[in-house]
Amino acid sequence: MSAGDHTHESGYPLFARVYDPVMALPERLLLADHRAQLAEGLSGTVLDLGSGTGAMFPHFPADLTVHAVEPDPHMRQRAADRAAGFEADIELVDAGGEQLPYPDDSFDTAVAVFVLCTVQDLSASLDELARVVRPGGELRFLEHVRARGVAGRLHDALAPGWFHVAGGCTLNRRTGEVLTRDERFELLEFERFESGLSRLLPLVRGRLERRRGSWLPV
Ligand SMILES: C[S@@+](CC[C@H](N)C(=O)[O-])C[C@H]1O[C@@H](n2cnc3c(N)ncnc32)[C@H](O)[C@@H]1O
Repeated sequence: MSAGDHTHESGYPLFARVYDPVMALPERLLLADHRAQLAEGLSGTVLDLGSGTGAMFPHFPADLTVHAVEPDPHMRQRAADRAAGFEADIELVDAGGEQLPYPDDSFDTAVAVFVLCTVQDLSASLDELARVVRPGGELRFLEHVRARGVAGRLHDALAPGWFHVAGGCTLNRRTGEVLTRDERFELLEFERFESGLSRLLPLVRGRLERRRGSWLPV
């Protein structure tokens, strides 16, 4: 099955089943802190793009309105089960980042965690994020990106196999570069983590502010 053959209707049932157990240790050792920083000060209406099993939900403040967009039915079911345990108002929505079912300027903040590696069309997804985040609102992200040097070449070699075992994820996507060059957003914060646990799988975390006024698609 190629990337193009994959349909959101079928999803990745095995990936959905193993995601939380496989991620439990990295979540505890590394990712929980990143997620907490990403959620700091969130208010209003938030888009959680590719919410997966709902790993961001525990970090969302109780007074938030969250639209958790998730195209994979197996992931979405797990997220729905998890959402029931939290005070934040969390609505699960069946959609993909390339076509978001919202009017322009709907969100105060969009949060993207380990999903811009997986969207089939990154450019179309960023067009949609720029459209639905209100001017002055934020796009916050935590993504893994292609490593540099030898590890980067290893990522290139492993990428085709990784795509199949990791739910359609592109291991060697240069998401950080794409995000920081997008002129529709102003860079507020950007950090690249490439040591310790992140050495083989570098992470980028940051905040972009949706520019006010007119903008041209990149
Ligand atoms: C690696 S998981 C990350 C889940 C979650 N954001 C987290 O922090 O754990 C990637 C998620 O993106 C979803 N996804 C795949 N294609 C997508 C698309 N085109 N738009 C939005 N989400 C997508 C997958 O179904 C999966 O749940």
